[in-house]
Amino acid sequence: MDSIKIAVIGLGYVGLPLARLFSTKYKTVGFDMNQARVDALMSGHDATLEVADDLLQEAIGKHGFVCTTDLEKIRDCNFYVVAVPTPVDHNNHPDLRPLWGASETVGKVISRGDIVVYESTVYPGVTEEECLPVVERVSGLKFNVDFFAGYSPERINPGDREHTVEKIKKVTSGSTPEIADIVDEVYNSVLVNGTHKAPSIKVAEASKIIENSQRDVNIAFMNELAKIFNAMGIDTNDVIEAASSKWNFIKLKPGLVGGHCISVDPYYLIQKAQVYGVLPRVMSAARRLNDGMGAYVAEQTIKLMNKKGVLVKDAKILILGITFKENCPDVRNTKIVDIYHTLKEYTNNIVVYDPWANVDKVKHEYDIEIQNSELEALQGQFDAVILGVAHDTFKSLNIRDFLANQDGVVYDVKGVLARTQIDGRL
Ligand SMILES: NC(=O)c1ccc[n+]([C@@H]2O[C@H](COP(=O)([O-])OP(=O)(O)OC[C@H]3O[C@@H](n4cnc5c(N)ncnc54)[C@H](O)[C@@H]3O)[C@@H](O)[C@H]2O)c1
Repeated sequence: MDSIKIAVIGLGYVGLPLARLFSTKYKTVGFDMNQARVDALMSGHDATLEVADDLLQEAIGKHGFVCTTDLEKIRDCNFYVVAVPTPVDHNNHPDLRPLWGASETVGKVISRGDIVVYESTVYPGVTEEECLPVVERVSGLKFNVDFFAGYSPERINPGDREHTVEKIKKVTSGSTPEIADIVDEVYNSVLVNGTHKAPSIKVAEASKIIENSQRDVNIAFMNELAKIFNAMGIDTNDVIEAASSKWNFIKLKPGLVGGHCISVDPYYLIQKAQVYGVLPRVMSAARRLNDGMGAYVAEQTIKLMNKKGVLVKDAKILILGITFKENCPDVRNTKIVDIYHTLKEYTNNIVVYDPWANVDKVKHEYDIEIQNSELEALQGQFDAVILGVAHDTFKSLNIRDFLANQDGVVYDVKGVLARTQIDGRL
């Protein structure tokens, strides 16, 4: 193990924490195609906030961790870890271009005896059918003869300060039993709670995709229940609390499903299932239902405004939060944008406030101008307020202070505000 030298390709939410962790035990180089990202990391700051600045600076200063865009700096590595994005295209089909690109990168530098481990979330078969042929073609080496492979999915949860990378039990796998042992040993050597060695790469790939798909389906069920109970005038949160008193009830809440994982990964399995002639009806329905929840929240708010006699046309509405989840700056696939666009059909007077989000990034990604400071200045102005994201800083607010008068509407998407403060919740 002493001879292991690791290159992590793709230094985002997944790759950077992992590379930093590996650097405490092995010589580790982080490689990314984005020069600005590499420069920021080498200056000691991670904009995703997943690695604290002091830990990053310690990795660079004490453990010799280097981030680079220079291929030559990873040529002498022998254990390559690929953690690049796996998005979907406009038709919700898997977009494998980042994986192909990273595989070309590996192909240019990999040598005989080396191992490449994929971490990106994929449908079963991508590593062996889509990625390794690219490594073979570019390197001229033969898979499982000259070089070897593994797959170890990441379970990191952005913004979660409890389940940090070293504490997460990880699934590992390898292209031969011996390689599976080596891959398992490398990960085990840096993890506190160990690993689960899967019998094959495809099993490991499938395990990750069903973790996220299961969550998507379960949340879709809660969203469906929320729609039914809202129509009946029953509080869904109360129903869930009551049902949770049974020992085997799975307690989940309704909500918006956004982000880079749960709202995207099921499409990978849905698309591949169809290639095998299986129509994944439950997963497809869950995706459709969850994707419609932003519009549903906006419509519920409009209904409440109507009921209270608040003029909807040109109403002033405040949306608190735009990130896809609480206490994290990630705005990828945030469903708050759907709330915003549905409300825009009624009024242009919408203010979006989020202290975690980057103003320029939101403008660039969604063409929405948000505010992220001086929240108090917004008090006393709005006809309706929607709490969209449960950032800790929002939970202690007296939310009705933001209304122009107390006849206004407060809608709580996350079910975290006191009942006395709100007019409706999911
Ligand atoms: N974010 C999460 O919470 C999470 C959790 C578990 C698994 N995953 C999976 O991990 C993978 C990575 O996700 P992420 O959130 O870290 O993505 P990210 O967008 O945060 O980071 C990806 C990084 O890869 C770089 N990159 C893209 N193509 C590259 C290439 N060809 N060569 C070198 N660098 C390249 C980008 O510049 C970026 O810095 C995805 O498959 C995702 O589904 C993500």
